[in-house]
Amino acid sequence: MSGLLRNKAILITGAAAGIGRATALLAVQEGARVLVSDIEEAGLASLVREIEAIGGVVEARLVEVGTAEAAKALVDSTQAAFGSIDGAFNNAGISGPMVPLLEYPDVQYERVHRVNLDAVWHGMKAQVQVMMKLGAGAIVNTASVGGLVGRAGISAYVSSKHAIIGLTKTAALEYGSHNIRINAICPGVIRTRMNLQFAHGDQALEDQMAKMQPIGRWGYAEEVAECAVWLLSDRASLVHGHALVADGGFTAA
Ligand SMILES: NC(=O)c1ccc[n+]([C@@H]2O[C@H](COP(=O)([O-])OP(=O)(O)OC[C@H]3O[C@@H](n4cnc5c(N)ncnc54)[C@H](O)[C@@H]3O)[C@@H](O)[C@H]2O)c1
Repeated sequence: MSGLLRNKAILITGAAAGIGRATALLAVQEGARVLVSDIEEAGLASLVREIEAIGGVVEARLVEVGTAEAAKALVDSTQAAFGSIDGAFNNAGISGPMVPLLEYPDVQYERVHRVNLDAVWHGMKAQVQVMMKLGAGAIVNTASVGGLVGRAGISAYVSSKHAIIGLTKTAALEYGSHNIRINAICPGVIRTRMNLQFAHGDQALEDQMAKMQPIGRWGYAEEVAECAVWLLSDRASLVHGHALVADGGFTAA
């Protein structure tokens, strides 16, 4: 390990599974202390056990993201646990239903935007405020290739992810001079529960999904974690206001 995040205190949302979980594990291996958060108690507990088994320092909080109160509670908890907050990975997200616009229930549209977008909005507000006082920080928001191109059937997801990129770039313009770097990542087709639930175990459909990426295979949470950890680290010192694509070429065409 290169110690990319040595001694840094990092907050990670959506950490019980998938990309958040892989990022928490890699961040710890790279020297970070992590506050991991999610709404899934069992997944969070098993992550804590795994981190402690490798000698990592971890605190866990069961918090539903999407409100100002939740965002503040997570920043406060990170500071209380570690005396600082050097980085935040605003990653929790849901896909919502797969139906055309006219059939898309308004209540689901609102839920997808609350979890995906409002959480980043409130998260950044709480995080930037404290990082300004600390004089430094790095924030990474999980967008998606759905933040760069449209995709039929998931309008709320796509609009929430496009908005995350706009928000990331704007916050970067506003707070870069405070030594706070703010970036987004745009994963492609990653083999996590979010995608696997669409396939329902149908191997032909899984193969079809893998082929959406020109590399001809699924992406893995660990590959996205590499991007998130690097962006959170000082080694990405000149990268700011960027939406980093990790999609096996999906958006190259
Ligand atoms: N899997 C992909 O192909 C893909 C592609 C692009 C972007 N993403 C994004 O990556 C992020 C992580 O997704 P994933 O693929 O790891 O999926 P995942 O379902 O494995 O993990 C998402 C995590 O977020 C948590 N979560 C959901 N709602 C929450 C809430 N209200 N409050 C707190 N936590 C909540 C879940 O419990 C889960 O642990 C999401 O923002 C997703 O949109 C995923």
